[in-house]
Amino acid sequence: MRPARLMKVFITRRIPPEGIAALSRAADCEVEQWDSDEPIPDKELERGLAGAHGLLCLLSDRVDKRLLDATGANLKVISTMSVGVDHLALDEIKKRGIRVGYTPDVLTDTTAELAVSLLLTTCRRLPEAIEEVKNGGWTSWKPLWMCGYGLTQSTVGIIGLGRIGQAIARRLKPFGVQKFLYTGRQPRPEEAAEFQAEFVSVPQLAAQSDFIVVTCSLTPATRGLCNKDLFQKMKKTAVFVNISRGDVVNQDDLYQALASGQIAAAGLDVTTPEPLPTNHPLLTLKNCVILPHIGSATYRTRNTMSLLAANNLLAGLRGEPMPSELKL
Ligand code: NDP
Ligand code: DGY
Repeated sequence: MRPARLMKVFITRRIPPEGIAALSRAADCEVEQWDSDEPIPDKELERGLAGAHGLLCLLSDRVDKRLLDATGANLKVISTMSVGVDHLALDEIKKRGIRVGYTPDVLTDTTAELAVSLLLTTCRRLPEAIEEVKNGGWTSWKPLWMCGYGLTQSTVGIIGLGRIGQAIARRLKPFGVQKFLYTGRQPRPEEAAEFQAEFVSVPQLAAQSDFIVVTCSLTPATRGLCNKDLFQKMKKTAVFVNISRGDVVNQDDLYQALASGQIAAAGLDVTTPEPLPTNHPLLTLKNCVILPHIGSATYRTRNTMSLLAANNLLAGLRGEPMPSELKL
């Protein structure tokens, strides 16, 4: 028997099959979806959310005060298919007593795998090398041609030794990294012990690292953290990798640092904006490798994320403990 009053759920995009199947099976919910692989226009989101009890959204959907005001008081749960929550106006959400679900842990290994791939791709100049094979630039084996920088005996600095930061360090250790440094709001001695990682300030990390990997969350404190000051302190031979969020980096300053040879190279899985316009100056640089935010992009992981997001939403709507609820 169907419950007398169905809870309305709105999904902002096509999502992988396991998540949609779980929601479709829920007899107490009426599910509406923006049935497209492309982002929902603002007006459609407002329309779809009107009167909704639950929202399943993606990191590219901005849930701000304006949208929350337009949505009305029915909304009880927001479930994002991401671990990052910087697209959600958390203070406004908290004020309204709305619960938030997110997807930590299930994407950690996949994202760390991508971060290591990006780091190696960048420091060993793989896109440039592949291009040289195709364009005839490969004329002979030459001693200093296409040389890059290696991980063996290096110092790796991690900005944000959280779940993904640790998973990256775990994967980099067998490459022969000599020393790990990390920074964050406070030391994390228990987590750092596995890598004998040393807690340092941001300027110390910048000055001493051969590789910097940014894995912190985007917050008011980390917005623009990687700027001119940081790049100026880095070694000329250092490689910078960001898998966090584009806004952690001042991209104009990064461009200057890369173009002037202040740092050796950068690998970015995230940019501002996303997608990055095809005429963006960073795309003119050979020493900058840019990926389209694919950290968690394996079929298995995206499916698991969608299922977790669906289960968070259902649990929240039913007043049960969520598998992964964000503490507000
Ligand atoms: P965690 O919460 O486990 O880690 C976040 C880290 O950010 C913590 O180590 C925290 O360190 C650090 N941090 C917070 N504030 C600061 C600060 N002011 N200065 C320096 N470090 C800070 O999250 P995850 O590891 O699971 O994910 C991290 C981020 O990675 C996500 O928020 C998301 O933005 C991004 N991400 C990107 C993906 C991609 O596809 N490219 C995929 C998945 C995630 P401390 O608490 O010690 O301050
Ligand atoms: C996240 O989850 O925050 C990533 O950026 C995408 O998986």
